[in-house]
Amino acid sequence: MNRLKLKDLIVSFEGRSVLEVEHAVFDQGKIYGIVGPSGAGKSTLLRVMNLLERPACGSMHLFGTDVELPSLTYRKGVPIQRKMAFVAQRPSMFQATVFDNVALGLKYRNVDKATVRARVEHALELVELSPHARQRAQTLSGGEAQRIALARALVCEPELLLLDEPTASLDPYNISIFERVILEVNRKQRTTILMITHNLPQAKRLADACLFLHKGRIVEQSDTDSFFRRPVSTELQDFVSGRMIC
Ligand SMILES: Nc1ncnc2c1ncn2[C@@H]1O[C@H](COP(=O)(O)OP(=O)(O)O)[C@@H](O)[C@H]1O
Ligand SMILES: [Mg+2]
Repeated sequence: MNRLKLKDLIVSFEGRSVLEVEHAVFDQGKIYGIVGPSGAGKSTLLRVMNLLERPACGSMHLFGTDVELPSLTYRKGVPIQRKMAFVAQRPSMFQATVFDNVALGLKYRNVDKATVRARVEHALELVELSPHARQRAQTLSGGEAQRIALARALVCEPELLLLDEPTASLDPYNISIFERVILEVNRKQRTTILMITHNLPQAKRLADACLFLHKGRIVEQSDTDSFFRRPVSTELQDFVSGRMIC
């Protein structure tokens, strides 16, 4: 099985260490929920994996390649980055139509026009926004914009999907569509998904396994059922019972 591995990762900002991961493994085709208090290092972890942050030390094994993170060049990084997609908490739409916003990643990859059209139409159907294809993206509601951000990520058929609190500001209707799409993509395409969420019931609904980050470290990682029913560390026990605030 093609696993994703992190090893000896240290991320520091202005001399302050914010993330230290000795060893972490993610199986292909699974959904992982990442939870933990604010400032724990969750976003930093995903940004490092998406090659947006360059750590002082650490290596990653993904898509069958070993990557020495501190010395990774732009040229070597781009093909790796193109196999993954990232959706942030707040969608940023470009000043263009919904169709063109979704097509963006495919244009960077020089995909032919007919394939772009077919894949964008399919992605819009998936997020239930086909009738909005010609609308200016800036005029979408918050929930619609976030579904378009998901379509934009999925249209490139990533092997790894990184989601940073993608439904934090959405209403239940948009959350349910977002969750359905994530599950569908995971089941049909075996996309590996890492999703940060503060919504613990959401992690229970979606994730096969969960990680708890606290003070820059992965304190606990286990299958979702054990994670919530039988947390081992006192930190996770406090967190799942709502006692830990930071
Ligand atoms: N670019 C940066 N410069 C300085 N400090 C940062 C930067 N990015 C994140 N941090 C700090 O790193 C820590 C972890 O941040 P983050 O990964 O965003 O946490 P989380 O997503 O778990 O809330 C926080 O203390 C945050 O202030
Ligand atoms: Mg964050």
